[in-house]
Amino acid sequence: MPEEPPVRGAISVKFPVRTARLDLRPHREDDLDDLLRFHSDPEVVRYIPWPVRDLEQTRAALQVKIARGTEARPGEWLMLAIELRETGSVIGEVLLRWADEGNRQGELGFALAREHQGQGLAAEAAQAVLRVGFQDLDLHRITAVCVAENTASARLLYRLGFLQEAHLRESAFFKGRWADQLLFGLLEEEWRAGEAPATTSPSSTADRAEIVELVGTFFRAFTSGDGAHGRIAQLHERFLPQAVVVRTCGEEPAVLGVDQFLAPRERLLSDGSLVDFQEWPVQGRLEIFGDVAHWFGSYTKVGIQAGARVDGAGMKSLQLVRTGAGWRISAAAWDDERDDLSVRGAAAGLPRWG
Ligand SMILES: CC(C)(COP(=O)(O)OP(=O)(O)OC[C@H]1O[C@@H](n2cnc3c(N)ncnc32)[C@H](O)[C@@H]1OP(=O)(O)O)[C@@H](O)C(=O)NCCC(=O)NCCS
Repeated sequence: MPEEPPVRGAISVKFPVRTARLDLRPHREDDLDDLLRFHSDPEVVRYIPWPVRDLEQTRAALQVKIARGTEARPGEWLMLAIELRETGSVIGEVLLRWADEGNRQGELGFALAREHQGQGLAAEAAQAVLRVGFQDLDLHRITAVCVAENTASARLLYRLGFLQEAHLRESAFFKGRWADQLLFGLLEEEWRAGEAPATTSPSSTADRAEIVELVGTFFRAFTSGDGAHGRIAQLHERFLPQAVVVRTCGEEPAVLGVDQFLAPRERLLSDGSLVDFQEWPVQGRLEIFGDVAHWFGSYTKVGIQAGARVDGAGMKSLQLVRTGAGWRISAAAWDDERDDLSVRGAAAGLPRWG
């Protein structure tokens, strides 16, 4: 039998935990007004167990947060204020529960005021607190649970490198109804692989930056709703006109030209049949030599079709060449996860992308 790890009790964390734009720190009495702004917002609390809070309820919640903000203790949540350094105001909170000391398990939570969402700030705060979990607390696995319709939260977790481990049917009585929840998990070794800097053969930083932007254009193009036509047109320009796109997915390869590939997807993304759909790279590696380059990585897609959540994951290979007008995609190929094929193994050695 393995020996039980020693019991470590409470661990002090050095505050503030600084990121590029944020300071994560314990809450203070004078955070009340900032907290009230997002605790009283029905959109922010839609998928979290809190009610829409008034001033008194927020004041009571703040007292709990102040008490839980100084050190990590087994079995408890460490609740940190997310302060935007530029303004000094608290724009959200990030939480880490030291769930199980013996098994070195933790749990992550987050919430951000509405006007600060969509800028990568939640990801920045979560990455910093994952570092606290895996480095300071020496955790082995960190989980996160979200209501199945909370696509913003699921997208953030995928971006952080988490894998969906379970879909829990009606596992919570939530705001007056039974809700399905998604359980996500991130292992220490996966987190460490994601922290490693991406390796490339010698090439200029400018080439790398241009191709990183091109890979972003590729994935962003597959976003439903307003602006879909523009995003697809942007991607169209970044293909060589003669490029081939190959879909395998367990069948005979389907070899498509650029228009054949993009036109049906543009329809689907813009005519309302697919809503709230996004696709994004999760892990990946870029290799550049002279005028040729290759991006190979995993991706995830999430959306709602006919009222039901659709999701998937796979690996894509993008071949790129330098032209007089800049880097262009000369070929793309992809395969998707299925019963006997998992992205998890294939992407294990790849660093987190973006
Ligand atoms: C879940 C929640 C924290 C996610 O916040 P978010 O702002 O969407 O997440 P991020 O900080 O990762 O931002 C990512 C978005 O910013 C965009 N972005 C802009 N600049 C960026 C940058 N420099 N870096 C990264 N992303 C950037 C990304 O494209 C992405 O947009 P998308 O959501 O349209 O894909 C937020 O929706 C929230 O607070 N919800 C309410 C509370 C809640 O439900 N909490 C979770 C309970 S489980």
